[in-house]
Amino acid sequence: DISAEEQQFNDLIAQDSRIEPRDWMPEAYRKTLIRQIAQHAHSEIIGMQPESNWILRAPSLKRKAILIAKVQDEAGHGLYLYSAAQTLGVGRDEMTEQLIAGTARYSSIFNYATPTWADMGSIGWLVDGAAICNQVPLCRASYGPYGRAMVRICKEESFHQRQGFEILLELMNGTPEQRQMAQESVNRWYWPALMMFGPPDDDSPNSARSMAWKIKRFSNDELRRRFVGMLVPQAEVLGLTLPDPDLTWNEEKQAYDMGQPDWDEFHEVLAGRGQMNAQRMQRRRDAHDEGAWVREAAAAYAARQSATTER
Ligand code: ACO
Repeated sequence: DISAEEQQFNDLIAQDSRIEPRDWMPEAYRKTLIRQIAQHAHSEIIGMQPESNWILRAPSLKRKAILIAKVQDEAGHGLYLYSAAQTLGVGRDEMTEQLIAGTARYSSIFNYATPTWADMGSIGWLVDGAAICNQVPLCRASYGPYGRAMVRICKEESFHQRQGFEILLELMNGTPEQRQMAQESVNRWYWPALMMFGPPDDDSPNSARSMAWKIKRFSNDELRRRFVGMLVPQAEVLGLTLPDPDLTWNEEKQAYDMGQPDWDEFHEVLAGRGQMNAQRMQRRRDAHDEGAWVREAAAAYAARQSATTER
């Protein structure tokens, strides 16, 4: 026996319709959305750091301008996503506090270092490529504000992916040292990019319910396989090798057989023990402290404005 409002929620999901902020929803649905959207927002914000590392060292003015715009786009994505999470009743301050305190998750991928310029290519091609593959289906997520935020984010991510591909293409058309730098970078980023899709399906506690609620449309492994299928022809065009000796076309399955990422490494990164976890968190805390005066000034201004209009 379920309530009329729960029946209505179930009907909306069954019809592939959308749940909006004022609709009734099960508490667990609200909680899982806050979890996923807040993590996603934090990822965009922390994700600014690995690339901002190269803004002052970009090899040309044109590359610098593109990189600044891209990092700025990531900030914008974080802001849309915080806004989408706020419609579920969680405060922006609360989410920020959790990130600063180190109790919130953000994507494992942003805990890897960016020692070479080629890493800007690999992040665009592999990391933003994986993000698109994961996020295009999220445009159809059952929760309206999340799905709608994803539409614009995916358009911008497509541009980011192409600029990464183009950086690698230019390096691959360059000197032997440049080609080597590109390949070395792809070797480092390939497996961490595959980890972005989350743990294997039989080790993914949230998948079944999120798929039943039509938040997720495909499983982690399914999206990972699709992503690899997309990469193979692009790697051929670039002349790059994907560092998986088990990657082979399976004629019978009409899909690629592939090796597995190092899941121990994944769990280490999630536990806060990755290459750059401590540094990313420290930078985020410092930025928050350095920005305190801006928040205070904005709050004082808003208070004065509302006092003036009340008069
Ligand atoms: N990095 C960090 N944490 C991860 C990752 C990852 N790559 N993959 C899974 N996890 C976490 C999950 O958040 C979950 O932890 P929690 O229960 O404490 O929240 C746990 O591992 C188990 O995973 P799942 O049960 O598979 O979790 P879920 O169903 O949420 O699927 C996924 C994970 C695929 C990442 C999903 O949340 C998602 O699609 N999120 C939106 C996309 C996103 O966040 N992208 C961020 C990187 S892309 C970018 O920002 C450019």
